[in-house]
Amino acid sequence: MIQKYTYGAPLRTDAVVHEIPAENGSPAYGTVNTQNSFTFTYRMSADDIVYGLGEANRGINKRGYCYTSDCTDDPNHTEDKRSLYGAHNFIVVWGAQTFGMFFDYPSLITFDIGYTRADTLSVSCESADLDVYVITGDTPYDIVKQFRRMTGRSYIPPKFAFGFGQSRWGYKTKDDFRKVAAGYRENHIPLDMIYMDIDYMDSYKDFTLSSEFSRFPEFVREMKEDHIRLIPIIDAGVKVEDGYSVYDEGVKNDHFCKREDGSFFTAAVWPGDTHFPDFLDPKAREWFGDKYRFLTDQGIEGFWNDMNEPAIFYSREGLAEAKELARRFAQSDGGSWDGQQEEVGVWQMGDKLQSLANSPEDYRRFYHNINGKKVRHDKVHNLYGFNMTRAAAEAFERIDPDRRFLMFSRSSYIGMHRCGGIWTGDNKSWWSHLLLNLKMMPSLNMCGFLYAGADLGGFGADTTRELLLRFLALGVFTPLMRNHAALGTREQECYQFEGIEDFRHVITVRYRLLPYLYSEYMKAALNDDLYFKPLSFVYPEDRMAARIEDQLMLGNEIMIAPVCEQNGKGRYVYLPEEMLFVKFLPDGTVSEEIFGQGVHYVDIALNEVPMFIRKGKCIPLADPAECVDDIRTDHLRIIGYAGTEYVLYDDDGIHKDYENEKNYRTLRN
Ligand code: NOJ
Repeated sequence: MIQKYTYGAPLRTDAVVHEIPAENGSPAYGTVNTQNSFTFTYRMSADDIVYGLGEANRGINKRGYCYTSDCTDDPNHTEDKRSLYGAHNFIVVWGAQTFGMFFDYPSLITFDIGYTRADTLSVSCESADLDVYVITGDTPYDIVKQFRRMTGRSYIPPKFAFGFGQSRWGYKTKDDFRKVAAGYRENHIPLDMIYMDIDYMDSYKDFTLSSEFSRFPEFVREMKEDHIRLIPIIDAGVKVEDGYSVYDEGVKNDHFCKREDGSFFTAAVWPGDTHFPDFLDPKAREWFGDKYRFLTDQGIEGFWNDMNEPAIFYSREGLAEAKELARRFAQSDGGSWDGQQEEVGVWQMGDKLQSLANSPEDYRRFYHNINGKKVRHDKVHNLYGFNMTRAAAEAFERIDPDRRFLMFSRSSYIGMHRCGGIWTGDNKSWWSHLLLNLKMMPSLNMCGFLYAGADLGGFGADTTRELLLRFLALGVFTPLMRNHAALGTREQECYQFEGIEDFRHVITVRYRLLPYLYSEYMKAALNDDLYFKPLSFVYPEDRMAARIEDQLMLGNEIMIAPVCEQNGKGRYVYLPEEMLFVKFLPDGTVSEEIFGQGVHYVDIALNEVPMFIRKGKCIPLADPAECVDDIRTDHLRIIGYAGTEYVLYDDDGIHKDYENEKNYRTLRN
């Protein structure tokens, strides 16, 4: 059952698709205070677990820390960070009382989950204008499914997007891309996509190509003949430059966000000065969305949307303030390091420069046009990335309504899960981020984001062969499987390392499992279900299962338990019931061993991919292939428990004929 409570005059976010009439009164759980601001408070019992919050730091059980939904471009995902790129305000409390809550609020909102007081859950935001949904059900899983139904079907990518992709910030020329393609193909490491980061553009201008990419359609075709799709990045900010048609049109037709005085707001991002399209205005959305045609017309089938929190390096105003401070600093004689008296100190100057980027002050400096009403950006900050990606999704419907496009975004709000997936932004080549990657997946799924994945190998900092292999062994199972790295870091394409055969093997396992993974993804998407689940969703009676934070249930048949430690030769696993331990061995064979319920230590070498098949289940396995197009779904082997069946979902992976019964086929072991 879902109940909705409306406070004040909420702004419509479009997170929810199945409208529910608002109730009188207040939620049956906790207390709500709407004097001056909004606070929901609930007294937790000692054993209560709290799930949800999608793209957030720390554990699957969110209890014990404080999180803020405030879409932020912060590339340092250290444990103390309270906000990442997304705003996913859905939680489930499981324990003495079990219920879910969705706080549909477009701006900064804080979830203090036993941080200030160990027994208190407190959700607060500045303005008491929001819709609060309270969902009751027997189990967290049941509650999540109700929530998912209310917020609508998750995005479904084309099948090629389940292949492996290589990315790196810094590929500049056709030959850079050809080198990557050759590196994979010559070494027989499967590959389906190469991502184009900002250097493919002319001066970082959206919907342009640098002079390196003349005769682009031919190049796209050349890659496609090799079964490789090029996936370009699109940034939120549009470069300010007279004569650049996107800029000129945006100015002429009033599509950019404005300052209070009506002038266009200018923020510096990669191209230098930019204006931000007003994605909250349907007319601007339509205009910007149609720009993707520039690339789809040249054969492009997928994109990633970046810098859409929106990220601001600095604004004109912020820079002017810093310069003024610097002038006073220069006159300060250097006598006072801490800025005492009238002097400007070193730290004050340093702080000002540090805080230029993504400053909350800048988010108060520009406005959106929402149904003819001027709304200050900070009031709707968390909707910006959602609506950029929505602009693209709406355009794809116009460009080719029968076809699926690959689309994922950095920033998001619940509702965007219908338009695209997400990648989890600028992680680092750290072991702790491998584990964070795993923990985020079920939480993201609860909020509807099924097509998701992290930068495998780690984006910032230098990776190692061992870390990349272990990252890939988790990535084998994440719907988005992409190796991406930052400019200036160690080259981390798989063929750059010794023992290339290990990379070939691990990625080949993905392709052998792909019919199963795709089938489970599609079933999850079509039934508002989860692809990744915490163990407790499948074994709610097992209190031990609820404590496991480094294993996940995938689909209906398998459990994954990757190695997340340097020098790890294996790991402990907890089995809530008897399972078949399956290891994909480097010689292409599969080892199978039954383990009973309980704790086990399993050996997992660096070049092995482990997983468990649940008791009484089986899964299909394809022959090795080097691209999705070459996977033969008419030639599948079944592994798992004898005498069992698996219902395979399969379709052409291109069109949207999802409901066709012909897409289902029963396979027998
Ligand atoms: C930030 C993104 O998070 C990262 O993936 C990308 O490489 C850089 N922007 C450059 O475009």
